[in-house]
Amino acid sequence: MLRPALRAVKPLRASAVAPRARTFTSTRHVRNEGPSLNSLDTFSDEEQMLRESVQRFATDIVGPKVREMDEKEQMDPTVVKGLFEQGLMGIETSAEHGGAESSFTSAIIAIEELAKVDPSVSVMCDVHNTLVNTIFRKYATKEQQDKWLPQLSENKLGSFCLSESASGSDAFALQTRAKKDGDHWIINGSKMWITNSYEAEIFLIFANIDPSKGYKGITCFVATKDMGIQIAKKEQKLGIRASSTCTLNFDDLKVPAANVIGGEGLGYKLAIEILNEGRIGIAAQMLGLAQGAFNAAVPYTYSRSQFGQPVGTFQGMAFQIAQAAIDIETARLLTYNAARRKEEGKSFTKEAAMAKYWSSVIAQRVSGQAIEWTGGVGFTRETGIEKFWRDSKIGAIYEGTSNIQLQTIAKFIQKEYS
Ligand code: CAA
Repeated sequence: MLRPALRAVKPLRASAVAPRARTFTSTRHVRNEGPSLNSLDTFSDEEQMLRESVQRFATDIVGPKVREMDEKEQMDPTVVKGLFEQGLMGIETSAEHGGAESSFTSAIIAIEELAKVDPSVSVMCDVHNTLVNTIFRKYATKEQQDKWLPQLSENKLGSFCLSESASGSDAFALQTRAKKDGDHWIINGSKMWITNSYEAEIFLIFANIDPSKGYKGITCFVATKDMGIQIAKKEQKLGIRASSTCTLNFDDLKVPAANVIGGEGLGYKLAIEILNEGRIGIAAQMLGLAQGAFNAAVPYTYSRSQFGQPVGTFQGMAFQIAQAAIDIETARLLTYNAARRKEEGKSFTKEAAMAKYWSSVIAQRVSGQAIEWTGGVGFTRETGIEKFWRDSKIGAIYEGTSNIQLQTIAKFIQKEYS
């Protein structure tokens, strides 16, 4: 029997446990009491309970399946079901719509904790919450929210369909087109590298309704699989192999006019604003991954002796371990700070880009070092350490490559200093 995570935590919110010593996530609290003087890794009772609950779920339910899912390149349906049962697929969604009505940082904590055990499961939860649910919560009409959010909280996986073969970083150059036909839109085109798409039932599709307007013709549509979305190809990948990544084809896909989300021609703004938030999610995934690799490798260095002493106590290795701990801590602070700024209603785009960029750098570095620290053992598939390194490579690619993050940061610096 799974232990409900957020659902178990929710009553705490309602019963106003007093006194709430601090708040990491509650903007209400921060506004009322002035600037928080807490350290960045201080959490509310609710967040701490959530972290412990997700840790248990990740260790007990996900952990035993990680290797098999990686080898089979397939997500175990019981894991997907478990994510929904735990309340982890509607973290910020209102209770009215079946969600946990929790904070953005709660989503970040869940993504981080899942990634410590399996970055594939983490990204499934991340895309569903920080991209798909958030688009509905922020941009959909009340009717659309009433229709779609309960399904996304309950049991239907969501997918965010933006990238195409010729538009990755240049996302607004997308070629998928939508044409009005009475009270419907007809969508034609293809999407590539779409996370969650093999298991998903609800798809957010970005298509251009008026290419003469350039990116200001991009519009977001919601469609279901049974409307005729074709899963054309499931990619075989280096890492996060249990997370599905597919090519989708839309061949005269007929979508009701009521399924436009956020307004005609506003899809580009909606996509990038959501990605700004989503990048904190990927930062959390990479942070969790780095910590997972560290946790798996470091104890081994103190149990394995060579030349009469534990290998982790040789200065050459001890200093590497210390530096890796600093790397992880810096990524943690950048990630939590970006999340806190978002919750406080401050600007966070530059901070999110920094967190995403840096977490992906250190995830790759630490997981690579973890293999070297554990030697032959880490290089085999048995310990799962090499998997963290394979999984880390995607951090510099999706939700904006490292160069896109640097470009975003550079634009802010130029504005500030010129
Ligand atoms: N935040 C808010 N608005 C932004 C923005 C940002 N970070 N970057 C650009 N914009 C806005 C600009 O303000 C401008 O809008 P207005 O015309 O209304 O003023 C518009 O976007 C175009 O701006 P630019 O000409 O500067 O932008 P561009 O065309 O050169 O590139 C971009 C814009 C496509 C957003 C690019 O910067 C980018 O981020 N590319 C990466 C795309 C990406 O992240 N894809 C992820 C796919 S989904 C995924 O990966 C999920 C998964 O699998 C896990």
